[in-house]
Amino acid sequence: MDTALLEQRFNEKIDRDVRIEPKDWMPDHYRKTLIRQISQHAHSEIVGMLPEANWITRAPSLRRKAAALAKVQDEAGHGLYLYSACETLGVERDDLLSDLHSGKAKYSSIFNYPTLSWADMGAIGWLVDGAAIMNQVPLCRASYGPYARAMVRVCKEESFHQRQGYEIMLTLSKGSEVQKKMAQDALNRWWWPSLMMFGPTDAESKHTEQSMRWGIKRFTNDELRQKFVDATVPQADLLGLTIPDKDLKWNEERGHYDFGAINWDEFFNVISGNGPCNKQRLDARNKAWEEGAWVREAANAYAEKKAKRKAA
Ligand code: 3HC
Repeated sequence: MDTALLEQRFNEKIDRDVRIEPKDWMPDHYRKTLIRQISQHAHSEIVGMLPEANWITRAPSLRRKAAALAKVQDEAGHGLYLYSACETLGVERDDLLSDLHSGKAKYSSIFNYPTLSWADMGAIGWLVDGAAIMNQVPLCRASYGPYARAMVRVCKEESFHQRQGYEIMLTLSKGSEVQKKMAQDALNRWWWPSLMMFGPTDAESKHTEQSMRWGIKRFTNDELRQKFVDATVPQADLLGLTIPDKDLKWNEERGHYDFGAINWDEFFNVISGNGPCNKQRLDARNKAWEEGAWVREAANAYAEKKAKRKAA
């Protein structure tokens, strides 16, 4: 069948909202866009384990420690589902990981900020996982089957993460003056980077238009950012905390909150590798990869032995 006809059939499926599956024909650009987005997403889950893992040993109670452990393990699982989804597009996981370790691949800007206090565990769950859910629930309807299916489970777990983070913030904000201050300080530091997670403005976004046409993305970066602000402001009110934005104000006419200017220079600086913790995060991932070499060797030796036994 010639390419024009294949492309026409592919476009018809997209228009009818029929899922594209790994063995279906797809345009090269669609495949590459998915590999880029899904692998960046997988890397974000894996690097995202680092800032919180840092607090497991310092969690203030056994209950908090158990929840933090479960959350970090969930992130590892999300990374693995996503690498598997990416492999269905014909790439090798080792190549994706090598791009992460060399600094070539991107991962979410948010994980390049430091976690300075226990309240950061609350703010990350509430804001970062909250932003992740806002972005990822629509991805459960993405046009590529393996990605959409992986996102269903990921979103269920992310909503548990969001709630446990909010509960930490609630406890701190109803606690002593010092605890309330810690919660406010964490909100001050995580608010703007959380808004940046949604990516550049629609006017600056390189990929949104095409990804929306293909049903990979269902909302633009600015639409999701606005939804997040609208959902989060009442939650901050309930905590009795102040969002660090003097321009934040309900706009009756638009039916949305207006919010202040985002520091895009900071965002582009972070995604170019110059954020506060980029080097630390890559060093930690490279160290974990090197120290895990014996596990990979043992797993390969076991798989080879098993295959030989089966063949005999
Ligand atoms: N951090 C790092 N890079 C970002 C970014 C961010 N927050 N936002 C955008 N970028 C990058 C894009 O990857 C792209 O880079 P490239 O062209 O070199 O590959 C460039 O900036 C231009 O941005 P676009 O808006 O054109 O890119 P997209 O159309 O891909 O939109 C996105 C960006 C909204 C992040 C989209 O890729 C997406 O929805 N990805 C899936 C979700 C995801 O990856 N989330 C990451 C967080 S996961 C997480 O938080 C884990 C949880 O456990 C908390």
